[in-house]
Amino acid sequence: MTRAWRSTESWRERRGELNGKRIGFVPTMGALHRGHESLVERCRRENDVVVVSIFVNPTQFNDPKDLERYPRTLEADLALLEKAGADEVLVPHRAEMYPHGYRFRIDVEDSVQVMEGLHRPGYFQGMTTVVMKLLNMVRADRAYFGEKDFQQLRVVTDMVQEFFIPTEIVPCETVRDESGLAESSRNQLLSPEARANAAVLYRALTGAASTGEAKAQIEAAGLRVEYLEEHWGRRFVAAYADSVRLIDNVPLASE
Ligand code: PAF
Repeated sequence: MTRAWRSTESWRERRGELNGKRIGFVPTMGALHRGHESLVERCRRENDVVVVSIFVNPTQFNDPKDLERYPRTLEADLALLEKAGADEVLVPHRAEMYPHGYRFRIDVEDSVQVMEGLHRPGYFQGMTTVVMKLLNMVRADRAYFGEKDFQQLRVVTDMVQEFFIPTEIVPCETVRDESGLAESSRNQLLSPEARANAAVLYRALTGAASTGEAKAQIEAAGLRVEYLEEHWGRRFVAAYADSVRLIDNVPLASE
């Protein structure tokens, strides 16, 4: 049975009882979908105890409107987690996650200020700060992160190494729907038409001969491209379908 913990103090007590077990952790902001489900299922297979957190972290949103309309579906999330085999779910309150406001934070050096770092000021600072808090609260053996947020995955992997956090960061492949669209909590905000148009992202990422061609294909489908770049052997995109911001990336085909 899945148990939900809303206070950090009761979670601390529970965590003490789990010492000696192999703990796997999946951090989320809720609005769970098949991508999260696959992370939880893998976590279930590889650990004795599956811990999931649901916390819409305000400090990683640079746009207050985006924070406000971020989907919140707690009842459905808990039902999905029960089915996927999660044992413990942390649903902490904002005041407990930030007992001193936002006084202490991780400063991520300038070199990550491309793509998400450049276009979402404060995002990496807020994201790494909350991930550091969560990793300290859970003290997991492994934590599972999706490759859809590849830049996030890289930064978290480096941070864990840098601060000697004894949690292995496990990268997990992006889950896609039949059209190729990457599963994302933000897909819930898309109209049926915008969702159909958004399928161009994966087609362009995988099929276009150059970044310029990929951008043109995406714009021809009515999306507004924020960036389309190649780094670390992968092609990345961020684009707006209507007013919904979507990101995706794929490995570049080797020659
Ligand atoms: O990827 C997410 O959902 C969030 O960035 C995370 C890792 C849960 C931190 O808030």
